[in-house]
Amino acid sequence: MATHDLPSYLDPNHLGPWGTYLQQVDRVTPYLGPLARWAETLKRPKRTLIVDVPIELDNGEIAHFEGYRVQHNTSRGPGKGGVRFHQDVTLAEVMALSAWMSIKNAAINLPYGGAKGGVRVDPRQLSRGELERITRRYTSEIGIIIGPTKDIPAPDVNTNAQIMAWMMDTYSMNEGSTATGVVTGKPISLGGSLGRTEATGRGVFVAAGEAALRHGVNLRGSRVSIQGFGNVGSTAARLFHEAGAKVVAVQDHTGSIHCDAGIDIHDLLSHTQSHDGVAGYGAADAVDNADFWRLDCDILVPAALESQITAANAGDIKARIVVEGANGPTTPGADDILTERGVLIVPDVLANAGGVTVSYFEWVQDFSSFFWSEDEINQRLERIMREAFAAVWQVAADNKVSLRTAAFIVACTRILQAREVRGLYP
Ligand SMILES: NC(=O)c1ccc[n+]([C@@H]2O[C@H](COP(=O)([O-])OP(=O)(O)OC[C@H]3O[C@@H](n4cnc5c(N)ncnc54)[C@H](O)[C@@H]3O)[C@@H](O)[C@H]2O)c1
Repeated sequence: MATHDLPSYLDPNHLGPWGTYLQQVDRVTPYLGPLARWAETLKRPKRTLIVDVPIELDNGEIAHFEGYRVQHNTSRGPGKGGVRFHQDVTLAEVMALSAWMSIKNAAINLPYGGAKGGVRVDPRQLSRGELERITRRYTSEIGIIIGPTKDIPAPDVNTNAQIMAWMMDTYSMNEGSTATGVVTGKPISLGGSLGRTEATGRGVFVAAGEAALRHGVNLRGSRVSIQGFGNVGSTAARLFHEAGAKVVAVQDHTGSIHCDAGIDIHDLLSHTQSHDGVAGYGAADAVDNADFWRLDCDILVPAALESQITAANAGDIKARIVVEGANGPTTPGADDILTERGVLIVPDVLANAGGVTVSYFEWVQDFSSFFWSEDEINQRLERIMREAFAAVWQVAADNKVSLRTAAFIVACTRILQAREVRGLYP
């Protein structure tokens, strides 16, 4: 019997990043051998929860926000993935992000499925009290499906350690016992892990180093452009800068800046701490956001949002290597253009896996109540990133495919093997 191509709750004309993900699955299916008969399971999230998040604003009004938690796949372990607060969050976006978490966790071989959450709100418009009330009500609403052995949220765009602390507290109060393992990316005082805040940016930097080594680029002295100067972008920028690379351009939601001689990242970090973003930074030139993509550089790190590198700007990109710090920054059309031009793309599911890797360390430390040193964490993180990179590189060479398709081959094989050996319930 034929099944429907798309779930009825999606609009085929507005699939957004979910459409990108579906194309990525189609590209990997021919490489899955007999497991391909299970591939349809990758195209449907296991569980999708949409919740209403009402709060009383400081001015006495009642406001309602839309919240989501999607568990894409839990064949290999509990759901794992961040929570995003952004005014443009949609169900299709959260679905795609949850699916990329399944792929990422399997590609790096962490014992997790994939999940993601979001609230459709611009947190910059909220007071601290309003932000806390939204976080707590959202956590209560999704409390029926999350838990340390069910689904473990973490920070993503516009969420941080404080928000994880409120989530952990809300869940624990509802459960009647302190459950530190329900979220990762917590403050250290609550069972957070050393190195977690920096982990994604550190992983991006390690992945860039591995790519540079194999693609004939000397990291020292190389020119790097970075879109996004938040948690991921700013950490990666600092590590590139400290390793002797020149960060020549940075773009964030406030604008784009450029300095051919290299930007002093420590100085830019102090600027962004006292301003809303990179705009207005005096020691670099302001450039048009559209021109950012045309700037000369060796390594480009998109570390902001999805669908930033498209068929419209891929032809202008000068970089020899693109390292995807963000999730889903490159559309399939742009992927093809860049690949044809010989640009090496290190895909998100590999490049930004450092965050979830240290989240995994945090979860393990919480369960055993035994905490590791920062050096131990960084060393284990770097080893896992390097080994995963080498394994994906080999699969790409063996099958003559891109690193993205190779990462999907590794991941989808692991997910579908688990699916097959577990069997369908009941
Ligand atoms: N935080 C993590 O551990 C983690 C892990 C894996 C992947 N990611 C991905 O990395 C990306 C960035 O996450 P983050 O945690 O650094 O978020 P963040 O909120 O700390 O930073 C986001 C950055 O993107 C910039 N930005 C937002 N809109 C923009 C626009 N339209 N144009 C240019 N810049 C814009 C913001 O100014 C900010 O500098 C996201 O795609 C996220 O899913 C994050």
